[in-house]
Amino acid sequence: MAEAKTTDRAVLRVLSGESLSPPPAWMMRQAGRYLPEYRATRAEAGSFLDLCYNPDFATEVTLQPIRRFGFEASILFSDILVVPHALGQDVRFVEGEGPRLDALQGRPEFERLRDAEDPAIFTHLEPVFQAVRQIRAALPHETTLLGFCGAPWTVASYMIGGRGTPDLAPARALAESDTGLVDALIERLVTVQTEYLVRQLKAGADAVQIFESHAGVLPRVAGSATEPAEGEASTVESVSDSAIPEAASGDALQRWSLKPIARMIAGIRAQVPGAKIIVFARGSGLDGHARVVPETGADAVGVDWSIDLKALRNRVPARTVTQGNVHPETLIAGGAALDAAVDGVLDATRDLPHIFNLGHGITPQTPVAHVERMLARLRRQS
Ligand code: CP3
Repeated sequence: MAEAKTTDRAVLRVLSGESLSPPPAWMMRQAGRYLPEYRATRAEAGSFLDLCYNPDFATEVTLQPIRRFGFEASILFSDILVVPHALGQDVRFVEGEGPRLDALQGRPEFERLRDAEDPAIFTHLEPVFQAVRQIRAALPHETTLLGFCGAPWTVASYMIGGRGTPDLAPARALAESDTGLVDALIERLVTVQTEYLVRQLKAGADAVQIFESHAGVLPRVAGSATEPAEGEASTVESVSDSAIPEAASGDALQRWSLKPIARMIAGIRAQVPGAKIIVFARGSGLDGHARVVPETGADAVGVDWSIDLKALRNRVPARTVTQGNVHPETLIAGGAALDAAVDGVLDATRDLPHIFNLGHGITPQTPVAHVERMLARLRRQS
């Protein structure tokens, strides 16, 4: 068999610093309820977790958006909450309401979690690695396969709150009242998820993305890694009116998010030298986005829809790899607004290394035709 050349994979080339025109594209949550074929497989599988833990079903839904749209990257179908589940926490998905976990409110619940070294964790997650092997075998050679996990803070916030809460009040309150406990939980997640991503890479993932979807509740100090842009104050930006955890005041983004992610990335690269890693730090603001690559060692920063991509590109070195950031609501709107959004991304990233994506996951009400229109606009010969 001829040796496979991963240099044929456009997303990997961009992650190595190349700029491609048009940029390669994929969408966060590209396998999902907006696709009729996903809804059919989901119904066949039964529950959402059955879909995640059945390698055949997981492979099928991962491939569906690739068959339909020919995206340059495929993302393993799973969920960030299979890790708390593997740690022994009860996790359920309630139809129409999202995830529910037995909230980790204090030390007794923490003591019941599996130790980081417990082999049962990776026995539980074996169907995920099996899915990665099957997906890689079935994908077109040139399609990049992305593995993923949640960032420690985002996963911890679900474990503590038991559900997605708008301002993550339970997680922030516990970080203040028992800082040591939250540190220990974050540390356990760093250790387990470093190994989790290493195993995904060894099973055949070409690169991995770490989802820090709840960076936005962490107050941050602007300008510690990059010079603040003109007119931008170098002060603490508080995103919420409620109390800032004392231990986290000053630079909570660094303490709870960027540093744990940096430890994961160093740990992954110690076992898989040169591993390519994208970090999506939703809600971290222009300054937070600019800090992701220098402070974590990631190869690329995933940009949320709230960011002016041009302003970010002006802020970071030209070699920085970005990914994003069409607003999922603009994709729902379609038409001229969508065309303008595509053109805006291309304009902001011309001759710069960029991976085209949304600025957060695609939502169930998105018309499939709008995805087609977006890709046609992106790929048209100009
Ligand atoms: O991007 C992909 O296509 C890969 C699969 C993927 C899913 N979840 C599938 C999913 C990925 C990468 C995730 C990540 C994830 N999961 C995040 C981080 C990214 C983000 O969106 O901010 C978070 C916070 C979760 C936790 C989670 N899982 C929530 C809050 C929900 C409910 C929201 C919803 O859309 O219902 C889920 C469920 C979920 N995860 C679905 C999918 C396709 C929908 C479940 C269904 O089919 O019923």
